[in-house]
Amino acid sequence: MLFSLMSEPFTQEQLKALVGRAALAYVVPGQVLGVGTGSTVNHFIDALADIKDQIPGAVSSSVASTQRLQALGIRVFEANQVGTLSVYIDGADEIDGQGHMIKGGGAALTREKIVAAQSGRFVCIADASKKVQVLGNFPLPVEVIPMATQRLIRQFAALGGVAGVRLKDGQPLVTDNGQHILDVRGLRIADPLGFENEVSAWPGVITVGVFAHQKALVCLLGTEQGVQTLMFP
Ligand code: 5RP
Repeated sequence: MLFSLMSEPFTQEQLKALVGRAALAYVVPGQVLGVGTGSTVNHFIDALADIKDQIPGAVSSSVASTQRLQALGIRVFEANQVGTLSVYIDGADEIDGQGHMIKGGGAALTREKIVAAQSGRFVCIADASKKVQVLGNFPLPVEVIPMATQRLIRQFAALGGVAGVRLKDGQPLVTDNGQHILDVRGLRIADPLGFENEVSAWPGVITVGVFAHQKALVCLLGTEQGVQTLMFP
């Protein structure tokens, strides 16, 4: 087998590149594709350039992905210009055994959830370190309206979480939507669907980074043995 011949273990970046290329098998020729955000997706976008003539273009979940797609000559459509997308390909910060995910490490969670909701099938691409039993070890990203920040920090504290505003260059990071991100540590999210329902209803929350309603149906997991395909019915 190809992989067992290699003496050195794969780096995380190599595993990301492996699943990024493997995801090409899920691109439907002739159809617009949903594209996520992050370093794993960047590998996918680079691989997509090789078959760009087979698709009309993509709907992107961030300014960063839009710029990368366009730089490689891949047309980017607005979400409102197209109907339902057959496939959405994106990474994750954590994925559990049912395909529920934590996302938003790249601060793009709101647009990611929007494009995922517009898509029939979420294909997650991730290296093996992202697979968990229970979500919550990765600090949960939540996009919020800035005036609600302190109250939301208190609401998360009541759930046992410690929330902090994500900073960039010493200032609150501003998302593509002009809002802020809270990162919440110390949560154990045993009921992702119930958690997503509850937190999504808190005033001031734009998007919680638990993807249970928009869970993955397939995950291509990069492991030392190669790409493992997980299916979540
Ligand atoms: C961005 C995301 C990413 O998919 C997630 O953070 C994983 O990123 P990476 O592929 O760089 O590990 O949700 O908002």
